[in-house]
Amino acid sequence: MKFCCVVMGENTMHNFKYYTPTKVLFGKGTEKQVGILVKEQKCKKVLIHYGTGSVVKTGLLDKVKAALDTENISWVELGGAVPNPRLSLVYEGIALAKKEKVDFILAVGGGSALDSAKAIGYGVYNEGDVWEFYDRKRQADGCLPVGVVLTMAATGSEMSQSSVITKEEGLIKRGYSSDYGRPVFAIMNPELTFTLPDYQTACGCTDILMHSMERYFVAGDTMELTDTLAEALMRTVIKYSLVLEKNPNNYEARAEIMWAGSLSHNGLTGCGASAVDFATHGLEHELGGLYDVAHGAGLAALWGSWARYVYKDCLHRFYRFATQVMEVEENENKEKVALKGIEKMEEFFKQIHMPISLTELGVFPTEEEMKLMAHKCSIASGGKKGSAKVLVEEDMLAIYRMAK
Ligand code: NZQ
Ligand code: ZN
Repeated sequence: MKFCCVVMGENTMHNFKYYTPTKVLFGKGTEKQVGILVKEQKCKKVLIHYGTGSVVKTGLLDKVKAALDTENISWVELGGAVPNPRLSLVYEGIALAKKEKVDFILAVGGGSALDSAKAIGYGVYNEGDVWEFYDRKRQADGCLPVGVVLTMAATGSEMSQSSVITKEEGLIKRGYSSDYGRPVFAIMNPELTFTLPDYQTACGCTDILMHSMERYFVAGDTMELTDTLAEALMRTVIKYSLVLEKNPNNYEARAEIMWAGSLSHNGLTGCGASAVDFATHGLEHELGGLYDVAHGAGLAALWGSWARYVYKDCLHRFYRFATQVMEVEENENKEKVALKGIEKMEEFFKQIHMPISLTELGVFPTEEEMKLMAHKCSIASGGKKGSAKVLVEEDMLAIYRMAK
């Protein structure tokens, strides 16, 4: 392990809050315990919420229902959460949950089913239109408890405070963050991810990496322990993504990636830093809203352009990333090293068959559409986004243009 001379001894930590109330059951067969975990919550009726059919096909949904039946827990179900989950289904879920007097929501699936479950939880607990939370109009006072049986390692939503929903009218994709939305439990059996299409596995690996990178590329002070944890996480994800590219049924690799997914977005890799960046996420959310692309692929398509646009403003972090994560040799020419690190990251994306441009993503926005996305992104972030470099609307537009 090399140590980066430019940053050693320079780090100063900031105060932070680290709140992870989620009970995690990790490993083979853990889904069998879902009934017991729900029972611990002392809830009377469960809404089982899931996606567009994978959990039906794999038989997981039936196993979950049987586990609830064994504990005499009554349930109703609602499927149909699509990738980039829609507000209309959230409304449907809220109405159903109220009618059935549901007091617990169990998501069975990936980030989309889980985010939709969180949104339903907010909508049942709070009066008024749930979209107002996502539209930055007001804050939730609570959320129905949410648990998850996770089938995809990606978003980290199983321990995160976020939920991301797309409003069909205007194709607006927005995230809402609140500690009330952190799941009370997460069941993670890496074997449940064996059935993922290779493309979704790679999208997930990309998203996991990006959640730590968005916390790593920051101006200002950081904490050495956090930096080294983040670097270990990023190196591990890169290593095992490449294993999965060759052998998708490698249990150890699935397990490493799955646990990294949770730790990458539960706050751990941001403790003590002055800020977070999350500009690539902001830019991707507009792509997801407008073109319905897979989140991880959208991030990969944008990241290189974002990095080349901002790296000079945050050279010490790009240098450290290049030498500590991407194995670039140290050199006095810091810019050259930083650029090499960006290039190597893009090579990695290519190795796992992720796009590194909008064209490769299969999206061909016109100038007007790019202006619209930049405008919406700026509104969503209150005018400014990022830390490595603080972006305003014209910067966002420049990055979309670079990414074409
Ligand atoms: O809908 P089903 O049939 O379940 O199929 C899904 C979907 O087609 C499939 N899938 C999931 N697990 C599977 C499986 N297929 C076979 N076997 C399995 N074991 O994979 C596809 C993608 O699933 P999805 O849940 O959409 O993926 P992901 O977990 O990546 O979630 C993406 C959503 O989460 C948001 C994204 O923006 C996007 O809307 N995010 C949520 C975050 C959070 N709440 O903290 C943070 C992220 O940055 C992200 O923004
Ligand atoms: Zn993400």
